[in-house]
Amino acid sequence: MGLVPTMGALHEGHLALVREARRLASFVVVSIFVNPTQFGPNDDFARYPRDLDGDVSKLEAAGASAVFAPSAGAMYGPGEETRVRVGATAAPLCGLFRPGHFEGVATVVAKLFALVGPCVAVFGRKDYQQLAVIRRMAEDLFFPVVVVGHPIVREADGVAMSSRNAYLSPEERGRARVLVEALRAAGRAFEGGERNPAVLQAILRRVLGGEVIEYAEVLRPDLGPFEGAIGDRALLVLACRVGKARLLDNLVVGEEAVP
Ligand code: PAF
Repeated sequence: MGLVPTMGALHEGHLALVREARRLASFVVVSIFVNPTQFGPNDDFARYPRDLDGDVSKLEAAGASAVFAPSAGAMYGPGEETRVRVGATAAPLCGLFRPGHFEGVATVVAKLFALVGPCVAVFGRKDYQQLAVIRRMAEDLFFPVVVVGHPIVREADGVAMSSRNAYLSPEERGRARVLVEALRAAGRAFEGGERNPAVLQAILRRVLGGEVIEYAEVLRPDLGPFEGAIGDRALLVLACRVGKARLLDNLVVGEEAVP
């Protein structure tokens, strides 16, 4: 059995995860649950896009075997109090800007693993740190599940697909391209031989220009900092606010093609 955990408002990126799960497993469960514990008080829980009927039709077409769409009361019943405490993997990047977020993610994914019992679970690599936190959690808690990361699926102009792109006005949607443009510029510099992480980081920040940057970092693929020059691979990872949307993107140079 395969599991694709989602929060719904499905787009082509989610459907690619479902198709990948179908390739790896004969029965694929897709969960749709906007998980309250991973949203902070100032986050977008209330206005997060929801479209269960539309999602179910898309999932039927993509070959999902079953949809699991529990209520908040079913996932967090009366007296429920246990949380998965995350560690160093969850501390930097999004962990600094969204306190408690990864504890909520790790808790709900552990609950989903326990309820559904998949052999394989597929997550998008757009949420690079989330994938690392979930891999760590599954290994540390001995869940018998292979955690698979699927490459980012992009729109025709390169913007990473995200349910939160729905928050963007047409003008903001145009501005959202700066994330992939920043990755492209730094990625090309890496391909041209640049191995100084500070230089690549300066390129990211220069291209992002006036947008509200939460972080724009050049790290080892395991999320640790570089001591000196980059070796053969580096993670370029971004979070920016464009209008009301908080957008993430990343690229592992030396491993993935520059988008
Ligand atoms: O990436 C998401 O949509 C969510 O964080 C996840 C993994 C479904 C947990 O709620």
